[in-house]
Order: sequence, then structure tokens, then C-alpha cells
Amino acid sequence: MTLLAQLSDTHFNLHARNSERVEQVMAYLTALPRRPDAILVTGDITDSGKTEEYEQALAALRTDIPLWVLPGNHDDRGALREVMLGQAASSEPINQKVRLDGLTLALLDSTVPGEGGGELDDDTFAWLTDLLRATPADHSVLVALHHPPVPMYSTVVDHMRLANPRWLEQIVAAEHRILGVLAGHTHTLGTTLFGGKPLVVAPSVSSLIGGAWEVGTPGELPIDYAPDPAVLLHVVEDGRLTTLLRPVPMGGRISVVSQ
Ligand SMILES: [Fe+2]
Ligand SMILES: [Fe+2]
Repeated sequence: MTLLAQLSDTHFNLHARNSERVEQVMAYLTALPRRPDAILVTGDITDSGKTEEYEQALAALRTDIPLWVLPGNHDDRGALREVMLGQAASSEPINQKVRLDGLTLALLDSTVPGEGGGELDDDTFAWLTDLLRATPADHSVLVALHHPPVPMYSTVVDHMRLANPRWLEQIVAAEHRILGVLAGHTHTLGTTLFGGKPLVVAPSVSSLIGGAWEVGTPGELPIDYAPDPAVLLHVVEDGRLTTLLRPVPMGGRISVVSQ
């Protein structure tokens, strides 16, 4: 059994609130009797891609559990690379391979610099194809990216979803080792099928965005800062993906003023 924790949309913004929430989630994960084998943060690590925001993220996410981050539309490839990955500040897509025991994670960069919406470029397509070719036949595979590839009934992010989902959908449908696709961006838990496999969209640690049915007036943003942060625990065993949601209590603490 492999246990993977997924956080998303931490939106570090130099204020204390979002950092406290991430620290609470990390404290929960590190104190577990059976700790996750890896932790994944599916984008919008920072609110505006500043170096100082990544430094805040690095401090709050520090753990001895293997941890990976992938970029979202609020991130900056150069600053993320430099501060969080310890690499030169290139603006090339950040596609990353993670090998766990019997499980490969394909972390795709769906961001388009300067834009809210997502797209997977040709290099990323080639990168995923090569990765699958080099992946052991007995490995399960999870694909992760920031932008959901299908509408999630959100008036806030649906117009900024993945613009070119077709080739990814074909790969997911055709590749039996791919058990599912993990995403973020919508700031609420959502699941559906994509390429016939589970698509699991993680809640945000920082805020909750309600569905289209919560919008009373056109243009209203149904953003709720009160709910506790939550983390997904993905279990991969016997070629099956099982996902559980775990809210992490803040003890009634609501630091809305620091936003
Ligand atoms: Fe976000
Ligand atoms: Fe986003």
C-alpha cells in the first residue's frame, strides 16, 4: 500500500493566515502513526509568485516526508524553481517524475505564464509519453496537474480550466497503468471521470469556492474563508485508487482579517 497526501492551493501571500493553515495540516500529517509515503501540493503554492512567498512556503512545508510541488496559475516557474527546487530560474515547464514503491507520479506543468487558464504544451506531451515508456510494467501511475481538464461547475475557475484536454484524455483512457488524475485549482473537493478513470480535484488549504449554485448575483465570488483546511489521502493498492478527505481543525480560529 502506498499512501499519498495531497494538499492544494496554499496561496502563500506573506500573511500569517494561510501559513498557519498549512502548518496545521503538515503537523497533522507528520504526527500520523502511519505517515504518508509522499506529500504532493498541486499548485497555486503562492498567491503572486514572489520569491518571499516561496520562502514562506518552503518554511511552512518543511518536513522529513518526501514532498513535491507543482505550479499553478498563481505561481512563477522561475521563482518556484529557484526557491523550492533549488534549480536555476528557467521558465521552461516544470514536469517532474516521482518514483515510489510500485507507483509513479507524473507531475505535469499545465500553467501558461501570465495567464489564469491552463494548457499542456507539446514538450509536456512528449515528456509524459517518454515517462510512460520508461515506467516499469508493474507500476501504477497517477497523473497530477493544477488545472482540471473538465468543467467542475465553478463560475470562478471553469473558464480557466485546461484548454486542451484531448490528448491527455486519450492517454489516460488507453494506458491501463494510469489509475487516476489529480488536480487542484477549484478550491473544493470534486470528482468525476476523465478518460474513464477517476479525476480527483483537491480542496484548497486556504479557502473554499462554492459551486455555480451558490452564485446569487452574476459576478459574485462564492468564496468562503471559514471552513477548516482539508487534505486528501490517496491510497494506492492492488491497482486501485481510493481517496479519503480529512479536514484538519483550526480550533475555531478564523484569521480573515489577515487576507
Ligand atoms: Fe488557487
Ligand atoms: Fe489556480
